[in-house]
Amino acid sequence: MTALEVLKAAAGYLAKHGVENPRLNAEHLLAHVLGKEKRIDLYLEFDRPLGERERAPLRDLAKRRGEGEPLQHILGTVEFCGRTFHCDARALIPRPETEQLVELVLKEAPAANSILDVGTGSGIIAASLAIALPEATVHASDISPDALALAAENTARHSLGNRLALVQSDLLEAVKGPFDAIVANLPYIPASEIPSLSREVQHDPRRALDGGAEGLDLIERLVPAARQHLAPMGLIALEIGHDQSEKVCAILAVHNYRDIAAHPDYQGVQRFVTARHG
Ligand SMILES: C[S@@+](CC[C@H](N)C(=O)[O-])C[C@H]1O[C@@H](n2cnc3c(N)ncnc32)[C@H](O)[C@@H]1O
Repeated sequence: MTALEVLKAAAGYLAKHGVENPRLNAEHLLAHVLGKEKRIDLYLEFDRPLGERERAPLRDLAKRRGEGEPLQHILGTVEFCGRTFHCDARALIPRPETEQLVELVLKEAPAANSILDVGTGSGIIAASLAIALPEATVHASDISPDALALAAENTARHSLGNRLALVQSDLLEAVKGPFDAIVANLPYIPASEIPSLSREVQHDPRRALDGGAEGLDLIERLVPAARQHLAPMGLIALEIGHDQSEKVCAILAVHNYRDIAAHPDYQGVQRFVTARHG
């Protein structure tokens, strides 16, 4: 069979097993098996005959993907803000919309010298900010030692060792400010909704998803605590659930933040909220 025929067969298998975007998934898996850096490199080799040596590992990977294992866990990497990061079950798989949270911080606090990423997970927000702002010192915290271990691997991967400090902390408990910006993509899914999420999302750590009864437990704790750790006019930037912007803006108002604003993602969902410590 040629690479193209193998690809079509794999895509058909994935479609039959309920995988969204089966062709795209199959291309990523075949590129991985063939050791291609980019999926697009496959396109030059569609006529290449593939033997059992390549088809057997592809079958194994397609089976795992067909059983609901996320593509990023199988590949072991994820693209975020134009860079490649390690990705596995120790932390949430970074979502594309979170790239916009990074862009928001860069827009709202372009001269920030000290930044804290709370609930850093795989470390992608903190690392992307450290890369974009070479003068800034970036701190990143998480309650999960597993997530912090993955974040440390990503810090090393991008040679940010002396620019990015990782700390285990329940929100801000073990963190010292003041910071010019605090950014957080904390768990915000209502606990009761988690069982109905896709089988891929069930591979994310529960602690990365569960925001309590209404999804707002962590944000409700962070907002008042962050006031003690922000410099005057310091920025707080939060990623939130699709229907939480009014409630989160109200929480910020109760705690006397100023310049409170909700921001849409590319789907038009009010996905981010920013405010300043006045
Ligand atoms: C939604 S994930 C986001 C991960 C990463 N920032 C991202 O955007 O991909 C939330 C993260 O918050 C962490 N977390 C949950 N409760 C926490 C707490 N009380 N204090 C600090 N981090 C917490 C989880 O371990 C998880 O890594």
